[in-house]
Amino acid sequence: MGFIEEINRRRTFAIISHPDAGKTTLTEKLLLFGGAIQTAGAVKSNKIKRGATSDFMEIERQRGISVATSVMGFEYKDMQVNILDTPGHQDFAEDTYRTLTAVDSVIVVIDVAKGVEAQTEKLVKVCRMRDTPVMVFINKMDREGKDPFELLDEIEQKLGLTVRPLSWPVGMGKNFRGVYNLFDQKMALFTAHGKQSIDDTVLIQDLADSKLDDMIGDDNAETLREEADLINGVYPEFEREDYLAGMVSPVFFGSAINNFGVRELLDCFVQIAPSPQPAHTEEREIKPDESKFTGFVFKIHANMDPNHRNRLAFVRICSGIFERNKNYRHVRLGKNFKFSSPTTFMASKKSIIEEAYPGDIVGLYDTGNFKIGDTLTEGEQLHFKGIPSFSPELFQYVENADPMKSKQLAKGLNQLMDEGVAQLFIHQTSGRKIIGTVGALQFDVIQYRLKHEYSATCRYESASLYKACWITTDDPAILKAFRIRKAKNMAKDKHGHDVFLATSSWDLNSTQELFPEVKFHFTSEF
Ligand code: G4P
Repeated sequence: MGFIEEINRRRTFAIISHPDAGKTTLTEKLLLFGGAIQTAGAVKSNKIKRGATSDFMEIERQRGISVATSVMGFEYKDMQVNILDTPGHQDFAEDTYRTLTAVDSVIVVIDVAKGVEAQTEKLVKVCRMRDTPVMVFINKMDREGKDPFELLDEIEQKLGLTVRPLSWPVGMGKNFRGVYNLFDQKMALFTAHGKQSIDDTVLIQDLADSKLDDMIGDDNAETLREEADLINGVYPEFEREDYLAGMVSPVFFGSAINNFGVRELLDCFVQIAPSPQPAHTEEREIKPDESKFTGFVFKIHANMDPNHRNRLAFVRICSGIFERNKNYRHVRLGKNFKFSSPTTFMASKKSIIEEAYPGDIVGLYDTGNFKIGDTLTEGEQLHFKGIPSFSPELFQYVENADPMKSKQLAKGLNQLMDEGVAQLFIHQTSGRKIIGTVGALQFDVIQYRLKHEYSATCRYESASLYKACWITTDDPAILKAFRIRKAKNMAKDKHGHDVFLATSSWDLNSTQELFPEVKFHFTSEF
């Protein structure tokens, strides 16, 4: 198969949802349909159960699972499908945001009874910022839930998506009879706990066909006809270009646990979802079909075994062919590296590969050379854009609790920050280290991992801060005045950028008013 065919047959995406909507179940069913796993239950949920905040074994278990399920690849209908896993717990939302920089599209799972939930809103907002094409799967149709039309309105309002149903449910809960596939006009019948097979689908070219009444009963058939008319009246014809531009989101209904509606979703997905898209760097746009290899690191995973301190850096290939044992340029360090055991992931199996194509994710063993956002090329100076750090909202001063281990603490903190676990700031006047995170769980994770992986002990002291934001201005005199006036609230991030530590929302607002010429940034990419 040629290079271009390899690119065109790749579908790299993430499934996102509020915890419990059914992301793990849907992932597993997609892998079953794709033949990547043979039995249900093979994909473990990577969520940290409620109440497990102080349960460190649970954190380790979760980390173990997220290595194994970081990327799940399989072939389906000659397509190479790469599913990128995202953590379920909201404290790890930043990991999810970064993973979203490495995908070409997403599937959002929504629980039919709960509708649009908080975490779904946040994640879809990030997708919309990037115009990532979004497909929606409304799950748990075997349970009573919201009226499908109302739910579609809710999705449009809360998520700001323009929707277009491509399948439509017949009943729900106990009366759930199946889904009518509006995309290719097929009716799939539901049998609870039955495996949906191809035989379940019957082709109905015309909804007026009396076969439909025989299959689902007169009343259901009548309702479906009316609703299908309504949908075709209300929603414009589905255009793939609008979906690819992130302007329209196709919606599917089903029940992941019962394998129902999943095949419809997958069949349509491989057909219409985008192949690897161009990537943006500070210097220029990178097209996937360029002959030279480029890629960037979007995730770093520390080894679970503390005796082997190496880490796995996950690289998204943006252009060219990545080859084993070939020299590549690590742009930030200005050094060449070659990788003897690049790893790909087929479901839970890891294997060493000889080459990989745009859209693929390779795991590179690393002894501490990579940071999130690093670029690999065949020599060109490129810096990928769109991998921001988000402004943290929880802060603690971090102190060394074991004077004999200060080197270990510094090394551990540095490496954990490179992994993107949290952000480290150095206070301007006191020189104290402040850790900022988006979730409370990270503080426990840092303390635990410092101890177990670096034999270092740290102590936290609360820092009553509200938000850290990056500041810039074109006028050096104003920056100087700002630094003097706000000396007690100034810090530097790991790149040496100026950071203002606001103590309250009032403090932030009044400082913004006091310095109208200063720009306040809430993500570190500007
Ligand atoms: P998540 O990854 O989005 O957090 O959700 P997950 O797939 O773990 O699913 C959350 C719960 O919802 C699970 O039940 C799962 O079995 C259930 N579920 C998923 N799809 C469907 C569906 O189509 N219909 C119904 N009725 N339930 C569904 P649990 O009791 O929390 O876990 P488990 O003990 O079943 O694993």
